[in-house]
Amino acid sequence: MSKVNLTIDDVPVNAAEGESILWAALDAGIYIPNLCAIRERKSPFASCRLCWVEIEGVDLPATSCTTPVKEGMKVQTRTPRVLRLVRTSFELLISHHPVDCARCAKNKKCELQRIAREFKFKLKPGKFRKLLRELPVDSSHPCFILDPNKCVLCGRCVWLCNEVQRACALDFAFRGLNTVITTSGGKPLGESDCSACRECVSVCPVGALIPK
Ligand code: FES
Repeated sequence: MSKVNLTIDDVPVNAAEGESILWAALDAGIYIPNLCAIRERKSPFASCRLCWVEIEGVDLPATSCTTPVKEGMKVQTRTPRVLRLVRTSFELLISHHPVDCARCAKNKKCELQRIAREFKFKLKPGKFRKLLRELPVDSSHPCFILDPNKCVLCGRCVWLCNEVQRACALDFAFRGLNTVITTSGGKPLGESDCSACRECVSVCPVGALIPK
């Protein structure tokens, strides 16, 4: 596979042609926040809107998971415009995420905590009103628990369950602010078609899917 040369935050990077800026940066040790990206997924879901970058010669910021690298590209990941966009996306996510880290099984391994740490953001909604949901926690499965209140709707679990494992146990339901991850037919997880591979648990970036 041919390679292209670019710079990210002024660091020379050599990446495979066709690779996205996100993965090129992460491979080079340059952190770009991301929740919904999965490397193997060829068409990015691009739902979290956290992975913003600016590219020299391009007017508008771009999401790095959907933008392929190009020879000679100059990418910046920490410009004032990028920081504003990342902060807004982060605050929107936090506005409907219960921040109870000390009691969460994902404490210290949560991607939201990592983003807050890297960007010195507070785990508070900022300019947005806190809109918590009170959805039932599903602990009917013998191996793991689904807490939809903590879900950031990144879609990683749904993609893996359907496109990789072919179990088709998890899916999105409803729209807008009511969107949730659920099982086909809305059955409890313990009665669903889950094959207990637990891949969904391993890719959940927050504490929405945790092992028992
Ligand atoms: S990682 Fe690019 S939009 Fe989520």
